[in-house]
Amino acid sequence: METGADLEKRLLAEESRYCSYGDTAHYLKKPKIFSGCEGSFLYDYSGKPYLDLQMWYSAVNLGYKHGRVDDAVRSQIDRLPQLASQYLHREKIELAAAISRQTQRSFKAAGRVHFNVGGSQAVEDSIKLVRRATGKTLFFAFQGSYHGRTLGASEITSSYRYRKPYGHFSNRAQFIPYPYCFRCHYGKRFGSCKYYCVEQFARLFETEYNSVVDTKTGECEFAAFYVEPIQGTGGYIVPPPDYFRRIKKILDRHKIYLVDDEMQMGFYRTGKFWGLEHFGIKPDVLVFGKALTNGMNPLSGFWAKEELINPASFPPGSTHSTFSSNPMGTAAGLEVMRVLQEKGMAERVNAAGKKFLGMLKELKKKYREIGDVDGIGLAMRIEICQKDGITPNRRLTDDIFHAGLEGGLEYKGRKYGLVLDIGGYFKNAFTLAPSFYISDEEIGMAHKFLDELFSRFTSKRPRR
Ligand SMILES: Cc1ncc(COP(=O)(O)O)c(C=O)c1O
Repeated sequence: METGADLEKRLLAEESRYCSYGDTAHYLKKPKIFSGCEGSFLYDYSGKPYLDLQMWYSAVNLGYKHGRVDDAVRSQIDRLPQLASQYLHREKIELAAAISRQTQRSFKAAGRVHFNVGGSQAVEDSIKLVRRATGKTLFFAFQGSYHGRTLGASEITSSYRYRKPYGHFSNRAQFIPYPYCFRCHYGKRFGSCKYYCVEQFARLFETEYNSVVDTKTGECEFAAFYVEPIQGTGGYIVPPPDYFRRIKKILDRHKIYLVDDEMQMGFYRTGKFWGLEHFGIKPDVLVFGKALTNGMNPLSGFWAKEELINPASFPPGSTHSTFSSNPMGTAAGLEVMRVLQEKGMAERVNAAGKKFLGMLKELKKKYREIGDVDGIGLAMRIEICQKDGITPNRRLTDDIFHAGLEGGLEYKGRKYGLVLDIGGYFKNAFTLAPSFYISDEEIGMAHKFLDELFSRFTSKRPRR
């Protein structure tokens, strides 16, 4: 009989022969294969648990195999599992209503929802909406931004690496420095900088020679600014409190829409339903995906304010995809919305986040190589540096990441692995997105495992 180890070996051999290497599975030195999941854990073929601190890039906010969401999917299989998007079904309508009502509560703005399947597709749909509404094709986005890797979404994603082999299909965004205060683009310090970065953005509009505005007519060439409220792939960077309010004033003055990409930070990841709610401004368009279905049948979409998305502005057939609003996805999404909207979700996320961040701060005190820890809700970061606490240390980040996946960590006499995710401008930040249901014991485990990994790869000299 084939053992678990034999099966794993055979599968990896077939993978290396038959699977494209074009996705991210081969970012790892040795691709990793899992066979089970539950709560905060993934399991390999030997049954070893791996504590997951990134939960499918924040797509599984409620933990693996969430009973109620899984039951909703099972019951949809029994009732109406398949239906072309051309026809309506109850769950689609109720889900659109639930998201619209929630967004109205969050931002006091009426609007509608349009569904698709993947995040990048929803981003592209939102690009079409904004192009249609404004007749303009140029966008601002942030340095360090990630909005997806389809051809259109790559144009507003900061990395040239993702565009280089393919050329340009759309208009490359104008990328503006993000308020990454730990490594301020302008070499300023938060507290004394007086939001110098916002001033620099405002200066673009001072004269026509800065290439964004016709100062004679006042018309700006740019349609929208795509923002992530907390920069995700860029390293879970939380902007300073008044940043977005100041930026939005400039955008409003020049009739530039703000598109809020909540793909990673939406659905309470930051302790509020939408991440942008922390900053006291309203979006014109909001894009979402990932955690909407807790990682079950994928579903994404965008919300837009009524004046942009009403049937006259965005008429039938403006965009379409075969599997958008698929019944399995909408059923999962509707149950996720019900769970999220029950009393106490914000409190749960904030309490667990506070405890987790406190633990990270303890580690920072102990290891000089931890240059920065920060977080909001359960979206947290650890930035790994050299001993000087500032020079990026990609090697140490990689070493810890790979050692976590090797699975030799011990807790109460059992071997475990640790699943982390690396982001950041220098690929030297752990972006942490644990399950909303992470227990105190699991936070303690995370502490023990991270402590062990840092001490294994650093000189353990206490910081002074
Ligand atoms: C902020 C943001 N926008 C868009 C996307 C693209 O979503 P998808 O990978 O589902 O295409 C991602 C994915 O990580 C993301 O983090």
